[in-house]
Amino acid sequence: MAQAISFTMNGKPVRVSVRPDTTVLDLIRGPLGATGTKEGCAEGDCGACTVLLKREGINGGVANAANACIMTAAQIDGAEITTVEGLAHEGVLNLLQEAMAENGSSQCGFCTPGIAVALTGLLANNSAPNEEQIHDALAGNLCRCTGYRPIVEAAKKAAGKIQLAASAETSHSASSEEISFDGAVARCPTSLAELLQARRELPNATLLAGGTDLGVARAAYEKDWSSIIVTNNVKELRQTQEDATGWTFGAAVTWQEVLNHVGEALPSFGTLIRRFGSTQIRSMGTIGGNIGTASPIGDGPPALIALGAKITFASVDGAQKTMPLEDFFLDYRKTELPQNGVIVSVHIPKPKADEHFRVYKVSKRYDQDISTVCGAFWIKMSGDNIEDVRLAFGGMAAIPKRARQAETALKGKPLTAENIFAAGQLLGEDLTPLTDWRGSATYREQVATALIKRFMHDLNGETVEVMAL
Ligand SMILES: Cc1cc2nc3c(=O)[nH]c(=O)nc-3n(C[C@H](O)[C@H](O)[C@H](O)COP(=O)(O)OP(=O)(O)OC[C@H]3O[C@@H](n4cnc5c(N)ncnc54)[C@H](O)[C@@H]3O)c2cc1C
Ligand code: FES
Ligand code: FES
Repeated sequence: MAQAISFTMNGKPVRVSVRPDTTVLDLIRGPLGATGTKEGCAEGDCGACTVLLKREGINGGVANAANACIMTAAQIDGAEITTVEGLAHEGVLNLLQEAMAENGSSQCGFCTPGIAVALTGLLANNSAPNEEQIHDALAGNLCRCTGYRPIVEAAKKAAGKIQLAASAETSHSASSEEISFDGAVARCPTSLAELLQARRELPNATLLAGGTDLGVARAAYEKDWSSIIVTNNVKELRQTQEDATGWTFGAAVTWQEVLNHVGEALPSFGTLIRRFGSTQIRSMGTIGGNIGTASPIGDGPPALIALGAKITFASVDGAQKTMPLEDFFLDYRKTELPQNGVIVSVHIPKPKADEHFRVYKVSKRYDQDISTVCGAFWIKMSGDNIEDVRLAFGGMAAIPKRARQAETALKGKPLTAENIFAAGQLLGEDLTPLTDWRGSATYREQVATALIKRFMHDLNGETVEVMAL
């Protein structure tokens, strides 16, 4: 049993005894005294706490921006992090920081460390980012006084000139040894068998993947995390397999990694994933966590259901079960996952030549926002008629759900505005949208019908990309 967390920070090995459930932000600002990293929202939204996180075998093993406020110390055991203090070298600012200073890219300065770290992460991995990629990298960093133009310009000025300092030998690689300190324990198993054993031995432990849902819940409700099991190093949950028929993603594969694999083949899914939180959230949050949290407004499930994805999960005794993802969700936040079971993987079939897929997210903001409605549609045509169709929605019921009656109404018919209107009339019977501050039930039903119509226009090559959708 270890009593300390070991990792590399700004190129130097660190070994520190803290409760493994301490947030990384509290760890680096507290015992490690690196106060350049700031706390704004403490919920993964503002980016003031951005650090670069590099983990062996995750996100291609490169350093990516991540939110320290919703990450726990146990998650960085064996990893490398870079804080704003690690950007300058021997007192000399890196060229991005210099460009930001010259360009007036900072006023009150509160957001500046997070922005400098996020952009350094972008430029270290991409020497010639385009405008969209720079904006993408900033989607998780809120600046309330400077405005983004001088920040974007500084990024353009520094492009091609940023390298991260090579780190010292990692003092310690991720291990499955239990970490225990001050009444809190964490296990970071490296195999499915060890994960299930940990689930049996610590039945009340919090099962933590990226922590982008749990970290927020914890900040909001002060949830007790005295016992944690981290899935990030479980090799079976980290695997990605691709063949001619589809992709199989282990549950602990991050959204950034999913994007890297499907972005080209399924551009519409790629656009959705690029709008999933922010760079920071995508580099931490996992496909399994998005399903495990079973939110009615999660973006992954509607897209995966429309694509005909299957989920594989294991019960605590090791028995595995595979089923269509749509059958996994039972009721609000209730799933087929047995007590203390784990999601192992998700299989996504590749659409064939006569099958078409699109997903649309409607939210109040383009980036870093939760869906009001997410509509995902898969269709198989036979000549001019619809042979088969799946219409899946998020934000339209207590669970992500298919609109079965509307699908039946469309089958065997051409995809015309009249047929879509008739199918849309049935959505109220299929789905039970809520009225909340994001939108009324009526608004959601109208949006859902409009999205099916947009799908038709898209398939006919009639639509242009609409930023607000
Ligand atoms: C700022 C911000 C923006 C966000 N934007 C979006 C967005 O645009 N769209 C969206 O859908 N979501 C969004 N989210 C929510 C979140 O990022 C996603 O749901 C993410 O996929 C969760 O994955 P995770 O690995 O972080 O899960 P965690 O927080 O680690 O876990 C979530 C739940 O899943 C369970 N779990 C994790 N892994 C497994 C497993 N292998 N087996 C069984 N249960 C498991 C956990 O026990 C927990 O109950 C956002 C969150 C934040 C903070
Ligand atoms: S403090 Fe706002 S994202 Fe972490
Ligand atoms: S400079 Fe003040 S918030 Fe960005």
